[in-house]
Amino acid sequence: MKLIYQQMLAFFAVIITVIVVLGFSFIRTTKTMIYQNSWQQLQQYAASIEKEAIRYNTQTNQVVGFNQQFLNDGTVILRDQHIHFSVYDANKQVVYPTAETAGMTGGSFYEPRISSRDWKKLKQNKIITQSPHVTFRSRRHDRPVNTPALRTIDVLVPLFYKNGSTRQFVGAISIGSFEQTIQANEQQIENNLFIALLVSGVAALILSYIIARYSVRRINRLRNATHSVANGDFDIQVASHHKDEIDDLADDFNGMVSSLKKSDNEIKRQEKRRREFMADAAHEMRTPLTTINGILEGLAYDAIPEEDKGHSIELMQNETKRLIRLVNENLDYEKIRTGQIALNKTQFDGKEVLENLVEQLTKKAAASDDQFKLQVPAALPVWADYDRFVQVLFNIMQNAIQFSQENVIEVRAKRTEHAAVIAVQDHGIGMTPDQVKNIWERYYKADPSRKNTKYGESGLGLAISHQLVQQHGGSIAVESVVDHGTTFTITFPDEGHDQPINED
Ligand SMILES: Nc1ncnc2c1ncn2[C@@H]1O[C@H](COP(=O)(O)OP(=O)(O)O)[C@@H](O)[C@H]1O
Ligand SMILES: [Mg+2]
Repeated sequence: MKLIYQQMLAFFAVIITVIVVLGFSFIRTTKTMIYQNSWQQLQQYAASIEKEAIRYNTQTNQVVGFNQQFLNDGTVILRDQHIHFSVYDANKQVVYPTAETAGMTGGSFYEPRISSRDWKKLKQNKIITQSPHVTFRSRRHDRPVNTPALRTIDVLVPLFYKNGSTRQFVGAISIGSFEQTIQANEQQIENNLFIALLVSGVAALILSYIIARYSVRRINRLRNATHSVANGDFDIQVASHHKDEIDDLADDFNGMVSSLKKSDNEIKRQEKRRREFMADAAHEMRTPLTTINGILEGLAYDAIPEEDKGHSIELMQNETKRLIRLVNENLDYEKIRTGQIALNKTQFDGKEVLENLVEQLTKKAAASDDQFKLQVPAALPVWADYDRFVQVLFNIMQNAIQFSQENVIEVRAKRTEHAAVIAVQDHGIGMTPDQVKNIWERYYKADPSRKNTKYGESGLGLAISHQLVQQHGGSIAVESVVDHGTTFTITFPDEGHDQPINED
């Protein structure tokens, strides 16, 4: 079943249940009220009959007669209202109506039945109310007639004669009204209620359709958005007012689309990087090979003058060394990455190492008019593989020289509770955030033309440094602003405080 129908059905069921329950209890209450009213009214009639129409003998305290005129008038008036009554004496004998004036309805006459139990109660001055029962007797067949038209509800009122302090039971009045009259009232109420039920049913149907449509529309909007995402549109966002669960779902959906977009971008970036990697690796190999090939051809065709031959061979040797270094670094990288190298960790003084490195690189720095500035505490205990530590810092400090000109390169070192932290900051060309993302990749060079070959670098330095620091359980972070410079911060944790390697 479609959601809209499910929701409509739910609303509809609730509303109809409420109406039916309320309706039934309403009918019950009104029914009771109608009966109570009728009994009350009958009692009032009985009271006025007692007052106006009955004559007592004050000596014998017996009912001696009736105000016949009043009774006749009253009977007619009451009969018009479909009300019948009988008067009993103290011996339970009917004294009114007499045979001649018997209340006739069609071929039947009113003959209330008073059980001996009821009679006892009457003597105790109790008023008795009776639910619908047969009080009419067919004159023709002389037996009770049991049809709603001839059933009555009755009130039995005792008659007492008060003379000073004495009270004497002198008889009773039985007065009844037709059940049919009451039922007509009931029917009217039930009809009204049925119409109300019908109207509210239709209203409920319309209302539930509107409400159901509202939520179904919102769900459909989400569904369409899902289709768009499935078709590769990661820019779609669903409106949300942060009000209910569907809004929460929309928020979650938006969050999901954002992260899908991120990973989609990441996949694209890696794909692009993979293609570049192949091209870069090929380029790094081809340059020296082309040089060597050119020289070899020259030698083969004797095209190189004798005095240049020495230089040519030297050139070939250099290029071959470069190739060997490239292959070695590559192997090194793979070994480090797969954890195949054993780190020979010891504790040593980092201050001394940094001072040595600065001294070694000062000449190189001077070539690009750079100056080192070293800030290092009096003691800088470092827990690391000595050679690898030197390799990492050499790489980073050499990069600082490579990418800055006529500036200060700051090397700051400090201790935290469980680590040695070294920052190398230059004020050189800097990098864009996109470039920063790629620097840990092999062969990556931010300079796309790869012209900067003065240092014979191949884009492996940072990739190797990154892996080395990770194998030490440390971290390497970079902050960079284009044209303002770059800061690398390397953390070497103490023994027992290394962080797990985070493979990204
Ligand atoms: N201090 C720096 N300032 C600006 N760019 C840098 C810096 N260090 C590294 N880079 C960028 O990162 C790239 C990768 O560095 P690296 O792995 O050492 O390779 P290479 O030195 O062979 O270029 C460099 O080509 C350069 O684009
Ligand atoms: Mg480098």
